[in-house]
Amino acid sequence: MAVDFETKEKSYELFDKAKRRGTWDPLDIDISEDKVHWEEGFSESQQEEVMGTFVGFYEGEESVTRTLVPYFTIVDQLEDAPFDTIQMELFLTTHLYEEAKHTDFFARYFEEVLGTQETHVEDYEDSRYWQNPDLKEFLVDDLEDIGVKMREAARTGDQQELRYVLGEGVMHYMGIVEAQLAKAGYEIFENVFSDISEDLGTEILPGFQEGIGYIRQDEGRHITNGRWLMKQLAEEDPAIVPEVYEPKIEEYLERLTGGDQDPGYQSYDFDMQTLQLSVSNDNLRQTIEYIGPEKFEQFGADFDIAAYHRGSAAAGD
Ligand SMILES: [Fe+2]
Ligand SMILES: [Fe+2]
Repeated sequence: MAVDFETKEKSYELFDKAKRRGTWDPLDIDISEDKVHWEEGFSESQQEEVMGTFVGFYEGEESVTRTLVPYFTIVDQLEDAPFDTIQMELFLTTHLYEEAKHTDFFARYFEEVLGTQETHVEDYEDSRYWQNPDLKEFLVDDLEDIGVKMREAARTGDQQELRYVLGEGVMHYMGIVEAQLAKAGYEIFENVFSDISEDLGTEILPGFQEGIGYIRQDEGRHITNGRWLMKQLAEEDPAIVPEVYEPKIEEYLERLTGGDQDPGYQSYDFDMQTLQLSVSNDNLRQTIEYIGPEKFEQFGADFDIAAYHRGSAAAGD
């Protein structure tokens, strides 16, 4: 097999961008000022609250680093795939490398600024970010379960099964974990930091903000590639949308909107639940639009979580 340079696909274009832009080194970022800010600019209760978001990110980056490998195996096993598998694999190498760097960034930040490697969110009782345990499960345990499913599908070699499990994994990993949960996390940081920066009259945690800026650029490529892959699978076999994509979105929405919701951080001026809902709403709508709303049965171009929620309440579930 050779890379066909005549027909460069989206994944190759993103791979090319990653080679040029994804070259930052977490160890080059100056975090000396951050340590002073963390120790002197945050009150103890502010520290406790925001630790949950830091921990969620650290755990999340580690989780996505550990669980990406089976995607390579599945892509490599596809026959007559609706995209060029070698170009996809080239891109995935940058994806994996970047997740490793994100983990590296958080590991160093915990060590040198936050002064701990304690990443069990249960130890941060006053933190609110992960107090919806269903969402945490979605981020860590469920990504592992999909890896197990992928390894099983790889053993059978059944072509439809390979495509469906790949579509399920991509919707979960790139379509929800990266596109909704991570983005909500960035916005939480932005909100918290702008509050504290205002109080202090200086930009808070500049090293962290620099690192997060690079991470967001990297994540943008991962999300775009995931959406593109899902679109290719759906163009080949539109049934994957109602069979695989929609149930996954539904599963996520139940977890996001069900159960006892936490009101959010007490010390800050925003509501966590509202923020997560609006981030998810925007991103799911974009994902549906990208894949093609006409292929969706349950959701469409006018996707709206509030309407979905009303609909499922009216249906009695
Ligand atoms: Fe990442
Ligand atoms: Fe990512």
